[in-house]
Amino acid sequence: MDPMIVVDAVSRRYGDRTVVDGVSFAVPRGAITAVVGKSGSGKSTLLRMINRLVEPSAGRVLVGGRDVAEEPGPMLRRRIGYVIQGIGLFPHRTVFDNVATVPRLLGWPRQRVADRVGELLDLLGLPRSFGERYPSALSGGEQQRVGIARALAADPPVLLMDEPFGALDPLIRRKAQQDLLALRARLGTTVVIVTHDLDEALRLGDRIAVMEEGRLLQEGPPEELLRRPAHPAVAALMEGARRALRLLALVSVGDAAEPADPAAVGLAGRPRIDAEASLEEALSVLLWAGADSLAVDGPPGGPPREVTLRAILARARQE
Ligand SMILES: Nc1ncnc2c1ncn2[C@@H]1O[C@H](COP(=O)(O)OP(=O)(O)OP(=O)(O)O)[C@@H](O)[C@H]1O
Ligand SMILES: [Mg+2]
Repeated sequence: MDPMIVVDAVSRRYGDRTVVDGVSFAVPRGAITAVVGKSGSGKSTLLRMINRLVEPSAGRVLVGGRDVAEEPGPMLRRRIGYVIQGIGLFPHRTVFDNVATVPRLLGWPRQRVADRVGELLDLLGLPRSFGERYPSALSGGEQQRVGIARALAADPPVLLMDEPFGALDPLIRRKAQQDLLALRARLGTTVVIVTHDLDEALRLGDRIAVMEEGRLLQEGPPEELLRRPAHPAVAALMEGARRALRLLALVSVGDAAEPADPAAVGLAGRPRIDAEASLEEALSVLLWAGADSLAVDGPPGGPPREVTLRAILARARQE
């Protein structure tokens, strides 16, 4: 693998407490690593050692092959976007000026800065007129979106995000997650994101790192953590992920089926499933067939129906 970030035996002590303890992992170029773990397990401290907001007590961090200790912190932080836990906007600067911070530091011409700020406000669903407001005149979720816009402003190759979507309502949160995936696809951004939400970690993370009491319990692709948890605490955490499958096992295909257009391309050739089967089985068939919808068999004499991956996902997330 071609690592963009290498965290090599990094520790941080405060007094006689070790809050990050000998952590090593690498983030491949263009990958998203999601860091999960209980409150106080050292996630934010770990993240802040990557851009030197916190200095390691031991170990080293490489970004793009360079030891970050050899680069002045302020220079480093221009090429590493950072979304801070608890928003952290500059209260005495307008939204526009907040988002424009790094592009101005990089000396972009005025028009380019203005264009970029407008583009980002659009991207995050904030009216451009908000640019003139001060952060205190925005809701928590709106402030959080401004914080994300600010971190993205100069298209940094590396983005560190500390619970960036926590204050967003579910719809906007979902959109913000999709935007992050689209951004990564477009720019090849390498991302480390801290989250409390395992669903979010599984949705976004190419790799997941599980922290407990300063130690890294396991780090790897989500599937590996699900199949081969290396620690009982990882297994317990992943139980949460299987809850969705248990929910799907309780719902029949018939309950989630939608009318299908008989003229639709390929309906006849599509893989099929019985209306009495569970959504868990339907999901399994979909995954196996590599399809995103199935034709539903039964009840007899009824109109043609289909069950889609989208409908199944919607059921998996219902509380
Ligand atoms: N500047 C500091 N001085 C002393 N202790 C600190 C300092 N910063 C963090 N800690 C301690 O280090 C531990 C890890 O903190 P950290 O902020 O990294 O946790 P976290 O995993 O991000 O938690 P949360 O999920 O609540 O944000 C905590 O016990 C915290 O009290
Ligand atoms: Mg934290």
